[in-house]
Amino acid sequence: MYTVPQLEDYSPAALDKAVHELLAAARQEADAVAGENEWKVFRDRWMARKNGILTQINDLWLKAAPGPAKREVGARVNQLKTQVEEHVSAAQQRSSGATSIARLESERIDITLPGIARELGAEHPVIKTMNEIVSVFRAMGYSIAEGPEIETDYLNFEALNFPPNHPARDTQDTIFIAGQEKKKQRDRLLLRTHTSPVQIRAMLNQPPPIRVVAPGKVHRADTADATHSPIFHQVEGLAVDTNITFCDLKGTLDHAMKSLFGSDVKTRFYPSFFPFTEPSADVQITCFKCGGKGCRLCKMSGWIELLGCGMIDPNVFKSVESNGYDARKISGFAFGMGVERITMLKYGIDDIQLFYQGDVRFLQQFT
Ligand code: DAH
Repeated sequence: MYTVPQLEDYSPAALDKAVHELLAAARQEADAVAGENEWKVFRDRWMARKNGILTQINDLWLKAAPGPAKREVGARVNQLKTQVEEHVSAAQQRSSGATSIARLESERIDITLPGIARELGAEHPVIKTMNEIVSVFRAMGYSIAEGPEIETDYLNFEALNFPPNHPARDTQDTIFIAGQEKKKQRDRLLLRTHTSPVQIRAMLNQPPPIRVVAPGKVHRADTADATHSPIFHQVEGLAVDTNITFCDLKGTLDHAMKSLFGSDVKTRFYPSFFPFTEPSADVQITCFKCGGKGCRLCKMSGWIELLGCGMIDPNVFKSVESNGYDARKISGFAFGMGVERITMLKYGIDDIQLFYQGDVRFLQQFT
């Protein structure tokens, strides 16, 4: 590293040599500067008022020069200052250029890389099954009906032949909306426990004949576990016309089960009870896993219970009589199924909670 020498010889030749060495050092150090911080160190080493190299030559060369040489040394020192300043500012330009090149270099992007693709969403498995069920009935000429999730006591129960205080209401684990004691019972609001009230709404909307399916969300005061959820989905069905018989019900649901689970499955209709149908049945299909031999899925019975159904009870028609539903002239059937249960059976899912946890790894298996 260059240090300023003391001058003993003030002859022009000696001065030339000293000046030459100093400028060579300045040029060399200037060339080595890379980046802003290095440049600041370089600038201060040469130009700092206090003990910078230019200050040093002022003291060591000019002030120390004997009288006759002062003029000559002064001129040289002035020249040197200008030249050193030039090196310093040139180094600044180069190093700030170097800094911005370094920055550009670090910010470089490869525009030939493929972009970040936004993945397409997909139908939730429950909605997918619900749509499948609905389209099976659409293909048979059914249209779609809907109703609200907040329903009246009348439509959820009474019109469906659950009289007030009837024990059949106990099976429905109802969530009531609070603070309605002043209202008549039939007007009180609750979260619908099944899609069956849409049967009444549809019949009030449209005189017979009618064929509708009603998919939707329902609510029960159930504690969540592997097979229960306080919110789940059902698809309801209703067909009313002249001369509708239990035979039509069997044929329709047999066809629907074969469409959903494969044409190998057989169906059977097991006696059951619902207030709004008479007679009522549970529909069972042969276990599609073991083919009816008996396995864990069907609890060794060979059969799996899938939905409820039955012929419309004449008391239900009474609630909609004003719209042309005269139980002496028409008849009909209804059915209702749980979408989660069917989805779980179809895909072998053993915990209903998986549908609601939003884990993408679970959901991606159905895309
Ligand atoms: N609403 C019944 C339930 O949620 C299911 C049901 C059974 C619907 C028989 C029907 C039916 O339409 O005929 O438990």
